[in-house]
Amino acid sequence: MRTIKSFVKRAGRMGSGQERAMAELGPQFLVPYQPSALNFEATFEGAAGAGAPSDVQRPVVLEIGFGMGEATAQIALTLPGTNFLCCEVHEPGVGALLKRIGENNIPNIRICNHDAVEVIDHMLPLACLDGVHIFFPDPWHKTKHNKRRLIQSPLIAKLAARLKPGGYLHAATDWEPYAQQILEVLSAEPKLKNRALPTHPELAGYSPKPHYRPLTKFENRGIKLGHGVWDVVFERI
Ligand SMILES: C[S@@+](CC[C@H](N)C(=O)[O-])C[C@H]1O[C@@H](n2cnc3c(N)ncnc32)[C@H](O)[C@@H]1O
Repeated sequence: MRTIKSFVKRAGRMGSGQERAMAELGPQFLVPYQPSALNFEATFEGAAGAGAPSDVQRPVVLEIGFGMGEATAQIALTLPGTNFLCCEVHEPGVGALLKRIGENNIPNIRICNHDAVEVIDHMLPLACLDGVHIFFPDPWHKTKHNKRRLIQSPLIAKLAARLKPGGYLHAATDWEPYAQQILEVLSAEPKLKNRALPTHPELAGYSPKPHYRPLTKFENRGIKLGHGVWDVVFERI
């Protein structure tokens, strides 16, 4: 059966710096897609930094759709004790994040250049994740395209099942109707509870921006234009 994808492969060629990063750093930081369970220990060898003992207890966060990787790189630097498995289908974005990894010496990111839904389905066992980041997923503004939105009940059920108890799912968007959909879909998932409701009842389910999520250039531009941004953070019961 043909499944509806949450993305269309965008045109765009890799720049020479991105291509160089792909050739030089790809072998170390790219995780090939495979239709079988990921070996986390082997995948994240060296993620604690050069010379540090490898530690299988380090938390693992999955990021879906990192774009050009600006926020991803900053978050990985802010949270050096966490391992990040980051999925993106847009190849120039993969090259761009590899370039940032090289420039900033970031050991704790691994990249899978593949549809995150297939990665979740085939590579991630139950209760293997400590967190999930989905920042500014494609809003698919037109009503007839809403069905392409990434955040819908079937995917959220799969993600909830892959979170460890206490693990979190953090989504952010600048498109209010999508923010409402995200809040509804996550609230309806029985394995999840809203982290912000008890602490920030005045935000009606939305969350204050967690400290680790940086304001990107794109977001700053939107804020200057008076656009809103909504963060939603739920936790696996
Ligand atoms: C609007 S961009 C946002 C990028 C980035 N998170 C940011 O905040 O700038 C959404 C990204 O998600 C990627 N994407 C959408 N569906 C995906 C999927 N199923 N698997 C992997 N990446 C996906 C797209 O290629 C695109 O780069």
